[in-house]
Amino acid sequence: MARDLWFETVAIAQRRAKRRLPKSVYSSLVAASEKGVTVSDNVEAFSELGFAPHVVGAIDKRDLSTTVMGQQISLPVIISPTGVQAVHPDGEVAVARAAAARGTAMGLSSFASKPIEEVVAVNDKVFFQIYWLGSRDSIAERVERARQAGAVGLIVTTDWTFSHGRDWGSPKIPEAMNLRTMLRLSPEAITRPGWLWQYARTLRPPNLRVPNQGKPGEPGPPFFAAYGEWMATPPPSWADIAWLREMWGGPFMLKGIVRVDDAKRAVDAGVSAISVSNHGGNNLDGTPATIRALPAVADAVGDQVEVLLDGGIRRGGDVVKALALGARAVMIGRAYLWGLAAAGQRGVENVLDILRSGIDCALMGLGHASVHDLGPDDVVIPPGFTRPLGVPAARTG
Ligand SMILES: Cc1cc2nc3c(=O)[nH]c(=O)nc-3n(C[C@H](O)[C@H](O)[C@H](O)COP(=O)(O)O)c2cc1C
Repeated sequence: MARDLWFETVAIAQRRAKRRLPKSVYSSLVAASEKGVTVSDNVEAFSELGFAPHVVGAIDKRDLSTTVMGQQISLPVIISPTGVQAVHPDGEVAVARAAAARGTAMGLSSFASKPIEEVVAVNDKVFFQIYWLGSRDSIAERVERARQAGAVGLIVTTDWTFSHGRDWGSPKIPEAMNLRTMLRLSPEAITRPGWLWQYARTLRPPNLRVPNQGKPGEPGPPFFAAYGEWMATPPPSWADIAWLREMWGGPFMLKGIVRVDDAKRAVDAGVSAISVSNHGGNNLDGTPATIRALPAVADAVGDQVEVLLDGGIRRGGDVVKALALGARAVMIGRAYLWGLAAAGQRGVENVLDILRSGIDCALMGLGHASVHDLGPDDVVIPPGFTRPLGVPAARTG
């Protein structure tokens, strides 16, 4: 990559994204909810954990590869589904190409701006993510479309409470990108000529429709129509989850678990994987950092289902800490969105390279040959760090 585009840490990618994107687009990536307690804890909790490295005996070649939901991946990091649009004209297709180039899998949001068929065409390791939106029939139709397109797994995200309101103010997302909206946004966008030029070249404004909520080949409903339907849909029961798992029949992840009791119910519902996740701090503010909730969940169900974690991953060292505390792999959200905003596909590749090299350095320091050798002995866990949730006896005190 051209030297001026390359960045050495995710924090630098974030600063570039901030400089490059119109203010409202950037703040829709920062997202979070209410006071931002959870989004901060997701990141800060990783800093509370330390490493316990060896001084001699490092292994000269380290193996970072593993599998997630039946897919071989070259590092224990996959792309978490995000429904952000208008960051880059190539959007999810650029992310999917980057993930494929770096040998990993991608979760594709049902609120993505690109049709699943285009995404699977460039990466054959795509897990389609759905929210509980519409009737069982319409959910089945969308899932069937994903199957036909070649999705190799399903991610079901149920941790959404429609909480809105942020102390720093929410970005105004327009109903549609028409001439009037573009003129209204132009004073903001004009200060970001690089971003504007990317779109001007394509002769297409950012897509504010959700193609994967519709039929193949159609533009799909506008974002707010789909969101409204979602708000009007009764939330799923465990029986609904079991029904969908059965109907899909393949690898199936329930994303958004933080409690041990929920993790056990997910196992009973027949899922193959869970992600310990609080939606990146975008949902119920005050939920603890996922890395604090992970150890109890991994202890309880880690031998029955694949346990992943997402939330707050910004460095390879964070990935290693999560694996040491019981995760099989992690999913990243904002880190790749900032890379995408900063430099498109190459920016996402850059982020994955940063994580890969950070994981490799940590493995070397810890004296391990493989990511599978990591364990709690490798990290320093301060007293009171963990939050075992959904374990009544452990919650007090
Ligand atoms: C802007 C934004 C949009 C998101 N959209 C979705 C989505 O459509 N579906 C979903 O399951 N999770 C969504 N998430 C949550 C991510 O998949 C993931 O759980 C979270 O970003 C992880 O935290 P991190 O950003 O600190 O890595 C979104 C997150 C962000 C920041």
